[in-house]
Amino acid sequence: MPLMRRPSLWHHVVSWDRRPSPTGVIRLTTGAVLVTDPKLANYVLVRAHLYEEQSAFLRTRSWRPLPFEVRNEVIRGLMSALDLRHAPSSTMLVLDRRGVLTPGWGIWWMRRLFHDTIACDRPAVFDTAIDAFVDQVILGDDVGGSFRRTPAPALAELYRVLGDAIVIAGSQSHDPGDLVSVVANLDLALPPVEQGELFTRLVHSVISFTGIALEWAVLMACRDDSFRAALRAGEDVRHFLWELQRLYPTAWRLVRQACADHQIGDVQVAAGDDVIVATAALHRSEAHWKRSKEYLPTRWTEADLARDRAFIPFGKGRGMCPGRSAALEAIQDSLHSFYDRYEIIGGRRAHRSPYVRSILAPPRVRLRARARAARVPGCSPPACLSTTSELVGDRS
Ligand code: HEM
Repeated sequence: MPLMRRPSLWHHVVSWDRRPSPTGVIRLTTGAVLVTDPKLANYVLVRAHLYEEQSAFLRTRSWRPLPFEVRNEVIRGLMSALDLRHAPSSTMLVLDRRGVLTPGWGIWWMRRLFHDTIACDRPAVFDTAIDAFVDQVILGDDVGGSFRRTPAPALAELYRVLGDAIVIAGSQSHDPGDLVSVVANLDLALPPVEQGELFTRLVHSVISFTGIALEWAVLMACRDDSFRAALRAGEDVRHFLWELQRLYPTAWRLVRQACADHQIGDVQVAAGDDVIVATAALHRSEAHWKRSKEYLPTRWTEADLARDRAFIPFGKGRGMCPGRSAALEAIQDSLHSFYDRYEIIGGRRAHRSPYVRSILAPPRVRLRARARAARVPGCSPPACLSTTSELVGDRS
């Protein structure tokens, strides 16, 4: 357990809301350049030659990022590994003994949903090491934000264990096309420790943003009758998900490092400067969205809204998220699966405001799942799980 939480960076989002830069770009006291205008953001994200080549996930300690061809190879492998995802199942819900969803439940849910995408029918060492990674790094460092980050030697040991297991897996005939196969078959000589590192970054890419976006969706469904009604009716709920990504973008800012002197708007940028694209500011800007701070999913009935507006939840340009459709599909399927079987009841009291570090996570609210046994005619326990104790899951 972390000793203490690091302070949330939510106040950045709030201060961008309060004082939008009139020119859409400003140099912060920290020296970084902050971009809050959609045209300028577009310029930064697509003008690749002005910025260092980088990738959120496709890198290792000696490749930042992997060579372009190898990145494409990894993305192709990743996309086909996504087909191995499980169908959402009620038994994957992560509840405590009182039926309350436990902290980080969305990420554990995605961990299970994408279990076979990550490592399909592999030795137990994979599950053990991946669970440790989710617990210590994704939840402990990136979402929970403990003061004590996972120490570098412990992280290197985790990478080494996974890397050694990937090397062994690569020498065997079993090749299910999961992420283990993707890294093991890569056309690039990487030492085992870097194979392990790349593998964990891919795991991160698949489950963390997706799990947090799912948590936001369930929280909002507790407060929004129309969202719940649509879920119970099995309707398409992507407009609710888009509105949540607009107001609370999981990837709330994107950072680039300049590799050449240039100008953005009226600000002179020098090589080496950090340039921050303030996704949350674009999405919440009064100049681009009517009633911009309000949650209004119906705004998405307007055709081509995403294309016309300042909306970049999945980034833009060469590094844009390749998993965006898969993510929305996984979230939507998961929500339908919950609301088919359960009522999720949200407590009134938020234990904290949104917790923002590298990911914009929802406020912690007590959420309780109650089985809706009556929904499935003729179904009796255990098939429709009428008691919460039957829903208490483990993390494997
Ligand atoms: C709601 C869920 C998700 C959100 C909000 C999200 C958001 C993003 C964003 C903003 C970027 C660009 C980062 C940058 O430009 O610096 C990105 C990159 C990436 N995402 Fe996602 N993502 C999600 C789900 C997924 C899923 C399910 C996958 C699995 C295929 C995935 C794989 C990746 C990869 C591999 C990259 C790096 C691409 C590159 O560098 O070429 N993401 N994601």
